[in-house]
Amino acid sequence: FPIASGMLILGYLFGSIPFGLILTYFAGLGDIRAIGSGNIGATNVLRTGNKWLAAGTLIGDALKGTVAVLIAGHWGPEAAILAGVGAFLGHVFCAWLGFRGGKGVATFLGVLIGLSWHVALAFAVVWLAVAVVSRYSSLAALLASLLTPVVFLALGDYPKAAAFALLTIIIWIKHRPNIARLLAGTEGRIGQKG
Ligand code: G3P
Repeated sequence: FPIASGMLILGYLFGSIPFGLILTYFAGLGDIRAIGSGNIGATNVLRTGNKWLAAGTLIGDALKGTVAVLIAGHWGPEAAILAGVGAFLGHVFCAWLGFRGGKGVATFLGVLIGLSWHVALAFAVVWLAVAVVSRYSSLAALLASLLTPVVFLALGDYPKAAAFALLTIIIWIKHRPNIARLLAGTEGRIGQKG
């Protein structure tokens, strides 16, 4: 119905702002898609060697999801979830980049912060723990995202469990090259230039 599609579109418009691409371009580093893994996310922006741009990318790509959720929350909790899904889809399937966007991890976290800050905290703790131990951003994202719908399921929050199950499936699909590299032992570690 109209409200639902309106919320998806609202979220999508926020989500489709590619902060990594914009920040690296204006910093004079050229097209981030020609660097490292070719991804537009913070992990790959860090491969340019500029920590501040990577931090800005992480914050921008996360906050656009949080903002979309908080605005849509005005129309109720279901609207907030739909806008969050829209924001994630906007980042991963960015219309302005030929429907090729990022891998969704920062925006997933931002949406989660807007919908349930305590589950977002659990996500961040798992992400950090795996990242510190393994130095693999992708492995941290794969495990932390997998945990999220399971936590909502355990809490009995089925709408959020369903929404995050969808987003987690998309994150895993987008990480297929990373999964192949992890299995082959050739995945780049955090901060390693590629
Ligand atoms: O958040 C994206 C990360 O999990 C993988 O990024 O650039 O190593 O493919 P990248």
